Amino acid sequence: MAGSGTTLVECKLLERRAVGVDINPDAVMVARNRLDFSYASLDVDYVTPEIKTYVGDARSLDLIEPESIDLIAMHPPYASIIPYSHDREGDLSSVHNIAEFAAEMRNVAQECMRVLKPGKHCAVLIGDTRRNKHFVPITPRVLMGFLEAGFILREDIIKLQWKMKSTREKWFGKKYDFYLIGHEHLYVFRKPEAGERMTKFKESMKWW
Ligand SMILES: C[S@@+](CC[C@H](N)C(=O)[O-])C[C@H]1O[C@@H](n2cnc3c(N)ncnc32)[C@H](O)[C@@H]1O
Repeated sequence: MAGSGTTLVECKLLERRAVGVDINPDAVMVARNRLDFSYASLDVDYVTPEIKTYVGDARSLDLIEPESIDLIAMHPPYASIIPYSHDREGDLSSVHNIAEFAAEMRNVAQECMRVLKPGKHCAVLIGDTRRNKHFVPITPRVLMGFLEAGFILREDIIKLQWKMKSTREKWFGKKYDFYLIGHEHLYVFRKPEAGERMTKFKESMKWW
């Protein structure tokens, strides 16, 4: 879910090796183009890191070995609020039904669990939406999907949104009496270490 590559550009600047995956070949092409710059770091020891990109599905990261990744930074679609393609097979931004979207994100969570090294972190930026003038919670369902997959919740960081607008590009809040959603959640999950005693974390884990 690397999109047009913001995180990958940061990886290049921070000298981190990275692999970016997105289901949309157009997004991967844009990301490759954005990564095509030379960087004169002030750090004399800076060595341009290897940044790989490929067209793939976050539910099945077929080119990534088990327990090979140190950190996952993921920015999924918020169900169908912004369609990133026209019904491309596997594109989760075309899943309108929130329960179905949550089930697919649970598959993504399981795949993250597979590729991440034990003890390492997975950060997921995700937001909620409105339908029919009511709040539709997406974030708690995604949170539960990651806990279901066996992750421990390390942080829930609130990212404030600026310049919000409704999907119709116009805020009818005064007329209809509702708030624009002004925040997103950046969940940071930790994969348990092998054989780690989990009892003391049980309130940050799957509780149901
Ligand atoms: C919110 S955008 C990411 C934006 C990104 N932060 C950027 O800098 O452009 C969500 C991305 O998820 C991708 N996506 C949707 N379903 C996917 C899937 N099953 N596997 C991988 N990527 C997927 C979309 O193509 C879209 O680029």
